[in-house]
Amino acid sequence: MKKNLRTASICVQGGYEAKNGEPIEPPIIQSTTFKYDNSEEMAMLFDLKKEGYFYTRLQNPTNDAVAQKIAQLEGGVGAVLTSSGQAANFYAVFNICEAGDHIVTSNEIYGGTFNLFGVTLKKLGIECTFVNPNDPEEEIQKAFRPNTKVVFGETISNPGCAVLDIEKFARIAHKNGVPLIVDNTFATPINCRPFEWGADIVTHSTTKYMDGTASQVGGCVVDSGNFDWLANADKFPGLCTPDDSYHGLTYAKKFGKMGYITKLVAQLMRDLGSIPAPMNSFILNLGLQSLHLRMKQHCANAQQVAEFLQADPRVAWVHFSGLPGDQYHEL
Ligand SMILES: Cc1ncc(COP(=O)(O)O)c(C=O)c1O
Repeated sequence: MKKNLRTASICVQGGYEAKNGEPIEPPIIQSTTFKYDNSEEMAMLFDLKKEGYFYTRLQNPTNDAVAQKIAQLEGGVGAVLTSSGQAANFYAVFNICEAGDHIVTSNEIYGGTFNLFGVTLKKLGIECTFVNPNDPEEEIQKAFRPNTKVVFGETISNPGCAVLDIEKFARIAHKNGVPLIVDNTFATPINCRPFEWGADIVTHSTTKYMDGTASQVGGCVVDSGNFDWLANADKFPGLCTPDDSYHGLTYAKKFGKMGYITKLVAQLMRDLGSIPAPMNSFILNLGLQSLHLRMKQHCANAQQVAEFLQADPRVAWVHFSGLPGDQYHEL
């Protein structure tokens, strides 16, 4: 993989490197299964003793190339594409939470995520406390319980456009021995890379700016590899104790920084299976190739609309962080 590419180059070339005479675009490997000459080779892959492709629900070369591009853009160690942004947020949380656990989330989040956390996770036995992200740290701290496993927020919230103080949220999460998950859909890694501010895991609805052509629904989970699961092993038995459904392997021990992503694929994708079609990942990749150019234009357009509205005396208020004087301008 090419190293030290700048962001714009990653948008165009990241995640996939063609060898001499190979297609310049990542090919659409629209195949469910992959051929092996003997069952021993297949068994090695199935047992995670060797890397390779055997069934697209678990891994697919087109999906992996695009996931890798997003991982590079975010500065993460690994990523998984999902069939929607909803699936990405569900998997990101469910990979480290189970019935009896609790999560703390900013209340400035997308309505779909609000329902996922407040209604559907509750049915699975995971409770959720919504906090005002602008409250002081001591106030947010009160939401934590001994069974809290994760903190969640959106870089720029949908629809309120509230800007998250990622450093503050990361500080609170880490003080409580849990990771911070940030949904970076609205900012995209062009405008903000949450890992640089302390987030541990990033999610995306790739359906939005990343796609840019309204042609596919998709999501992505990216891991920074920074959170030390084993140092907080009592909180994360799914990563730090043997998985009986995978021959007793312990993800955080066997795969180190890739433990979280490996578990998400080997266990959750195996059992729940929300993968994107390779064709959709190909379409997403076409969008990503111009992300760096489009985001500049989106921001310029939004700024112009906000300034226009602010100058109109018939408009009661305009809430946009690009406007000097806006509550989030400095942040
Ligand atoms: C910030 C954010 N996260 C997640 C989602 C859910 O994504 P999807 O519609 O791809 O399932 C959305 C959708 O609007 C969103 O805006």
